[in-house]
Amino acid sequence: MTTLFEPGTIGQMNIKNRFVRSATAELLATDDGRVTDKYLKAYKQLARGGVGLIITGNFYVNPIGQAVPRSIVMHRDEIVDDLRKVVKTVHEHGAKIVAQINHAGRQCYPNFIKQKPIAPSAVRDMMSLVKPRQMALNEIEETITAYGDAARRVKEAGFDGVQIHGAHGYMINQFLSCHTNRRKAEWGGSLDNRMRFLIRVYELIRETVGPDYPVLIKINGEDCFPNGVTIDQSLAVCEKLDELGIDAIEVSGGIGETGFSTIRGDIPRDLLIKNRNIAEKILIRFLIEKKMRKNAEFSEAYFLPFATAVKKKVNVPVISVGGIRLRETMENILKNKDTDFISLSRPFIRQPNLVNQFEKGEKDPITCNSCNRCSFEMIIHHKPMRCYNKDTP
Ligand SMILES: Cc1cc2nc3c(=O)[nH]c(=O)nc-3n(C[C@H](O)[C@H](O)[C@H](O)COP(=O)(O)O)c2cc1C
Repeated sequence: MTTLFEPGTIGQMNIKNRFVRSATAELLATDDGRVTDKYLKAYKQLARGGVGLIITGNFYVNPIGQAVPRSIVMHRDEIVDDLRKVVKTVHEHGAKIVAQINHAGRQCYPNFIKQKPIAPSAVRDMMSLVKPRQMALNEIEETITAYGDAARRVKEAGFDGVQIHGAHGYMINQFLSCHTNRRKAEWGGSLDNRMRFLIRVYELIRETVGPDYPVLIKINGEDCFPNGVTIDQSLAVCEKLDELGIDAIEVSGGIGETGFSTIRGDIPRDLLIKNRNIAEKILIRFLIEKKMRKNAEFSEAYFLPFATAVKKKVNVPVISVGGIRLRETMENILKNKDTDFISLSRPFIRQPNLVNQFEKGEKDPITCNSCNRCSFEMIIHHKPMRCYNKDTP
């Protein structure tokens, strides 16, 4: 029976226990996307805290794919030396580190990237109200190349692997979904066509980093949105990736347009309406908030059924993420072979030392109550990574 502190492997990467820090945007880089001392400190704390594998917050493959400020952007070689310091710090403390790479597509903001965001099709996001511009064929090719270049720099910086962000309504997910991909020819229509972008990205990355370098993906079990990716579609994509040689699959769910279905918990009203004008406050209060609360209803291990379904179809390790908080849940997941690793995000923001607490035998050390003040402050109001719970000093 696998236990929480039994070592595990992903491809050729040996991980000292079954805990993964799921990718969490830090907003601790400089305005132009370089590593800072605060960034390094955050990763040092995490690695010292005992977690086996850290997945970085998403690195953007280029500036027009950037959704939030003060994040790492991978479009130039100078970033490699910065990132070597992050890897060194984490390795010194016995953890492994994988870099997540992403292009946010229609989930970028025009006033931030100073142009209309690009996406497979020009479908307005009814939550952010952003309407993207449909990508030209050469832009699709350029974007695939940007993922390949980013993966090359990730490997050069010494990371133990790279994770493709295929979830949460970002570019790859936008190609997979019938809602956001209305294209007809090569890149849209059938599931085979909709997954072409992801497969091309994967194949280019694999060609770039070589056969032995761990390449992981985070993918939605379901988009939780009408006409979005369904579990059957997701299973077909996972089977294809398994066949092509992906090294591990982390299973999540939800897209930006659903509100907070990815990051379930409370919807803090004060932060939802902060910096809004009167008309927006009324709109949010009477049209959006109720739906958001429903989509964000929390239950323990809320995406586990999707991850378990994926596990039954593939041969590679599967990682479950989303609301896993209790030791009993974690132990049962491993005992039942539901998934191979347990991934957490918000609890590590509040308690980077969490895994050491588990290891010392504390039964249920997680004190994160999914109040979601971190999500709102960071993702919407662009504050740096920390716990913003009202009881935090
Ligand atoms: C502040 C914040 C930033 C996040 N940034 C990312 C990210 O960069 N990439 C990603 O795949 N998921 C990101 N997520 C989602 C988490 O990785 C995770 O899927 C989600 O929070 C559910 O896990 P949890 O219940 O353990 O927090 C973020 C979540 C939060 C709260």
